[in-house]
Amino acid sequence: MAVRLRPLDQQVVVLTGASSGIGLSTARLAARRGARLVLAARNEAALRQLCDELNAGGERRAVAVAADVAREEDVARIAETAVAEFGRFDTWVNNAGVSVFGETTQVTIEDFRRVFDVVSWSVVYGCRQAVAHYRSRGDGAGAGGAVVNVGSLFGDRATPLHGPRDMFVGSQAKTTALAGALFPRLVDRYMERHMWPSQMADDRPSQPRETPDSPQPTAALWTAGYGMHVRGSNAGWHRRRSYWVAARTHPVRTVAGTGVAALGLLASRATRR
Ligand SMILES: NC(=O)c1ccc[n+]([C@@H]2O[C@H](COP(=O)([O-])OP(=O)(O)OC[C@H]3O[C@@H](n4cnc5c(N)ncnc54)[C@H](OP(=O)(O)O)[C@@H]3O)[C@@H](O)[C@H]2O)c1
Repeated sequence: MAVRLRPLDQQVVVLTGASSGIGLSTARLAARRGARLVLAARNEAALRQLCDELNAGGERRAVAVAADVAREEDVARIAETAVAEFGRFDTWVNNAGVSVFGETTQVTIEDFRRVFDVVSWSVVYGCRQAVAHYRSRGDGAGAGGAVVNVGSLFGDRATPLHGPRDMFVGSQAKTTALAGALFPRLVDRYMERHMWPSQMADDRPSQPRETPDSPQPTAALWTAGYGMHVRGSNAGWHRRRSYWVAARTHPVRTVAGTGVAALGLLASRATRR
């Protein structure tokens, strides 16, 4: 059954992990395009600052919900707030995430479990809230709604210090899965050449270990992060924008580049025969 979604400027969007990074950028972009927003994360001060920014025009466009998405009851409260404030929601974005860098034998089981609670179980809780709401709504005009699950390349491909993360949702993971199925050795080689060196670089700033009893100010596994920053604190390499956005922005270059790559592949196969 085809689901008809409202245009973005008529939507109420629930967005987890809105206090920094991708979530913060997404909140600003969606607000600029007219969406009303329910913004969730643990850092309440950062969320309030963001709401003040988005509501500056006078209209109540964004509300904040301080919530730990690893707790099912907190996720339920996000949905309840959306309905109480705006009467419904149309899109639910499971974006909140954390990860741990460390060797698999050194990261504690407690931390592994916490990563799973935040990145995997939160997606289950969020999807259940969204589906229950969309089913119950049946309001005719655009009944149903969207769920967007933000995935990661690391859900499918191992890197030396990023083993604890194992989430397999979202379009990025689907793309990786497809590439992994079609060209498994090529994808592994890409990881070894491009990901492993940056993971193993010894100038990579690492945080002291954070525990529930002694949180570190800039870590965010057990307690809220510092909020209101779009880019991370890692001093390493930053991409300015995603490959997908670059490809969409320059379609001619993308088609030409893909053609050249395909021809190169065919030529290398022909010379090997
Ligand atoms: N940046 C990348 O290169 C990249 C690549 C692949 C996938 N991703 C995925 O994209 C998503 C966003 O990443 P990002 O780079 O924007 O990270 P980020 O800047 O660290 O933001 C993470 C967000 O999640 C929130 N969060 C973390 N734990 C939470 C919890 N228990 N409950 C509620 N909110 C929580 C954080 O807010 P509080 O600390 O205030 O709770 C923050 O708003 C993540 O799922 C990440 O895995 C990112």
